[in-house]
Amino acid sequence: MNEQLDTPLIIIIFGISGDLSQRKLLPALYHLMKRDELPSDLRIVGVSRRNIEVASVYENLHERIAEDDLDSETLSRLQASTEMFQLDTESKEAYAAFKEHLRNVSDKLGDGVSRIYYLSIPAQAFMTAVHYLGETGHHEPFASDSERPRILIEKPFGYDTHSAKELVSVVDEHFGELQAYRIDHYLAKETAQNILTFRFRNPLFKSIWNAKHIEQIKIVAHESIGIENRVSFYEQTGALRDFIQSHLIQLLALVVMEEPDSFESHDIHAAKLRLLEDIKTISTDEVSAIALRGQYDSYRHEVGNKDSLTETFARLTLHVHNAQWRDIPMVLETGKGLRDKTSKILVTFKNEDPECGPNILTFRIQPREGITMSLQAKRPGLDKDTETVEMEFDYEKSYGNTTEAYERVIIDAIRADQSLFASADEVLSSWRIMENVLTSWQKNSHDLRIYPIGSPAEEIN
Ligand code: BG6
Repeated sequence: MNEQLDTPLIIIIFGISGDLSQRKLLPALYHLMKRDELPSDLRIVGVSRRNIEVASVYENLHERIAEDDLDSETLSRLQASTEMFQLDTESKEAYAAFKEHLRNVSDKLGDGVSRIYYLSIPAQAFMTAVHYLGETGHHEPFASDSERPRILIEKPFGYDTHSAKELVSVVDEHFGELQAYRIDHYLAKETAQNILTFRFRNPLFKSIWNAKHIEQIKIVAHESIGIENRVSFYEQTGALRDFIQSHLIQLLALVVMEEPDSFESHDIHAAKLRLLEDIKTISTDEVSAIALRGQYDSYRHEVGNKDSLTETFARLTLHVHNAQWRDIPMVLETGKGLRDKTSKILVTFKNEDPECGPNILTFRIQPREGITMSLQAKRPGLDKDTETVEMEFDYEKSYGNTTEAYERVIIDAIRADQSLFASADEVLSSWRIMENVLTSWQKNSHDLRIYPIGSPAEEIN
């Protein structure tokens, strides 16, 4: 941690006034700064097409911070560390001028400055931005730098296999895989980080983690909110791309991959990739049987498109074709406008005794992060009745508050630790798995279930 605090840092944020930066990134920077976990020599350079004042970028930040955590001194310090740069994103010359500007910022900070580019811009703008950044040499260190700049990329990484390949190649051409950090903030959630430790550091679970003992794995991410103001983003994205192709498939990989050779980033990525490659591609014929989509009832009105087929709910059943998992259904389910906000992973163990309920291990990603094991126990008293009880580990009770995922994302990018980011091959593999679902949903409209906003997910069938 200390080493990172001693290194001067420039964070360049494309899309600083956008929804994601406002909701996640700036609050995360605020919390890190408040806890003194950012370098004291820090400059944040916000990039925007329009002429935006720094003050307007931070105008609403206080609303994203809990009242008892609000500290005006930190807010002012963060704002004072920030400057804006207006950039015509379609002009190569503008990127060259921007590099000169950054060189000046860097010179003022001294030697050995780290530079991180954070790209939170629509997929269409992304290709051009990376291309021009590369063409004008932003990926190269300045003479006084000791390391190459890194690029942080927000999801969705592409729109389908074809576009994802194009993005991979433009990033590869200029920055390269070692400089590319593809954010999947679900991997940085505390419980998700615990999956590998829990699986591989507890001999009890290690020996029964296979198709012989496990009946089903289900990963859900339900949200009660709708699409909020992200109309054009969501119309082009939908639930499958927004959540399943990224967050849920990454979690699945952690839950079912083989033990990595080490817990180092490259070994974790290699084990994840081996697993993803074993997941069967869904064929066009299978789509109606194993994929289901829905849309909440007020969605079309909200987006002003009475014919929209964009799904706000999706459920997919995948199969892993290897000896460890053959024939075990892996269900991934997500939706907006549902009754509750909850994300969890349920591992249901096989049960041969019809008298007993199953043992279910639940990784609670949010809310109330923790792990629960449901077991059968004898109810106290003279009778021999059995009932389901829960053994539980709760982060808050054991450790107090946990670190918010975006804070972890930023810190890992500063430390150059890629473990919690998605590699290019992983991203391409997950597009491959569900590509036929996307094309088949695009062609047909008859199978879209319309559900009342606030529905429980199990009622969407
Ligand atoms: C993002 C999705 O990746 O995750 C959003 O694009 C979603 O649609 C968000 O609302 C949820 O994140 P969290 O951390 O609030 O569960």
